[in-house]
Order: sequence, then C-alpha cells, then structure tokens
Amino acid sequence: MGAPVVETRGLGKEFRVRHERLPSVKRLFTGLLRRFPTERLWALQDVSIAIAAGEAVGVIGHNGSGKSTLLRVIAGIIRATRGELIVRGRAGGLFELAAGLNPELSGRDNIFLSGALMGYPPATVRRYLDAIIDFSELGQFVDVPVKTYSSGMGLRLGFAIAITFEPEVLLVDEVLAVADEHFQRKAYRALRRVQQRGSAVVMVSHEMKAIRELCPRVLWLEQGRVVADGPAEEVIARYLERVGAENGA
Ligand SMILES: Nc1ncnc2c1ncn2[C@@H]1O[C@H](COP(=O)(O)OP(=O)(O)O)[C@@H](O)[C@H]1O
Ligand SMILES: [Mg+2]
Repeated sequence: MGAPVVETRGLGKEFRVRHERLPSVKRLFTGLLRRFPTERLWALQDVSIAIAAGEAVGVIGHNGSGKSTLLRVIAGIIRATRGELIVRGRAGGLFELAAGLNPELSGRDNIFLSGALMGYPPATVRRYLDAIIDFSELGQFVDVPVKTYSSGMGLRLGFAIAITFEPEVLLVDEVLAVADEHFQRKAYRALRRVQQRGSAVVMVSHEMKAIRELCPRVLWLEQGRVVADGPAEEVIARYLERVGAENGA
C-alpha cells in the first residue's frame, strides 16, 4: 500500500464565536451594553488519522462533535488552527445541501462553475457533462435556475457533480439523508464504485445501516476528539452502547 491519501497529525481547529445577539430588553434597562465577549471553541482537538487510497471511512458522533469541521478541513474549505494535514490528490465532495451551487445559475451552468472551481477546463467538464446530468436525473430541469429546485433536486445535482469528477478523496457529509430511497441506493452504489476504483471515501452519517454497508472502518468523534477509530462493528457497538446509556436504557 502506498502513502495514505489523507494524513493528519495533531489536527486542531478553533472557532471564535462573537455573540452578536440583539441586547435583550432587560440588558438595555440594566445598562449592560458592553461588547459581548468572544467565546473560543475547539471544534477539533489532536486528531491524528491516516486514510489509504480505496478505503471507506464512516464518521459518527453526536451533533456538534466536529464531524463536518473535519471534512471541511480535509477539503481545504477551512484551515486547521494547529497540526498537520497532508492530502495526496484532490479532495472534494458534498457538504451541506446544495452548498457550492449558485442559486441564480442553471444546473448546467453550475456544473461548469463547479468544474472550474475544481480546476477543470470547460473542455474537460463537457466530457463529464452528460454523465452528471444523467446521474442527477434532473432532465430538462438542468436548464432552469437552481433556486427553483427542491432540496432533493439540489442534492441530486450536487452529489452527481461530486461523484462524477472522482476526486482522490471523496467527502460526503450527511446530506444523503434527504434523498429518496431510490436515489440513496444509487448514491451508495456509486460511492462503492468510486471507492473500488481507488478513491478514499469519507462519509458522515447518522444512519448506522448505511455506514455498516459502505464503511469497514469507523471514526467516532466527541467534542472534537477521536474516541475510537477501528472496525465498523466494534466502534458502532460502543457508540450505540454510549447512546443507550445516555438515554437510560
Ligand atoms: N463556522 C463556525 N463558527 C463557529 N463555530 C463553529 C463553526 N462551525 C462549527 N462550529 C462549532 O464547532 C463544533 C463542531 O461543529 P461541527 O463540525 O459542525 O459538528 P458536527 O458536524 O459533528 O455536528 C460545534 O460546536 C459548532 O457549533
Ligand atoms: Mg455536521
């Protein structure tokens, strides 16, 4: 096996959150109108992982545990505050619903825009075009503005774009949950295909069934830290045990 396609060492991401809520009536009356303090929050702490080509890794954990932050750091959308990140090849994928799509442009123009953002010249995008439109099942809707799409349509286009360009590291953050059963199955088949061709797939999901089917390895995050990283069955069992304990089962 060659060098890992994703390697992180001691990765940390700190967010600073300024509370910009409107002052409450009570605060106005008590004259507490000083600036709201900045809160610091480590969304990722000391994350050290290595992911090989052709590996499929599921990422699980409670809301706010840092799953999306990890994917966005790997994708280069945001920068880590600490630690090292090495990505060998292109990392791309689907993050939030229709994120990355421009609502004013048609689906077709969005395909060219996404391609350009990934560094592909129009001629290359044209080669992928039919496959993307076909996979998205948008039909004639590919030529109307994305702002008129349902969330399912936006998701289908975003996923079709992400999967067809086949980056070396394909990142998928939850989004598939809103797709209908038919598209979900098709999407998971496509993810497996991409993985079998040698790309690494990193998928966040709350659906343990989907994770089990696609990912032999699972990474469990809590409060930005890696709780467990190992065989899917083992890690999922521990996670479900914890969730059960929290709910008094
Ligand atoms: N852009 C941001 N600015 C400030 N805080 C953020 C930002 N993105 C995420 N966070 C915070 O970082 C933590 C981890 O968030 P996230 O990675 O989205 O968790 P998950 O995807 O596991 O639900 C949360 O506490 C969240 O509020
Ligand atoms: Mg998330």
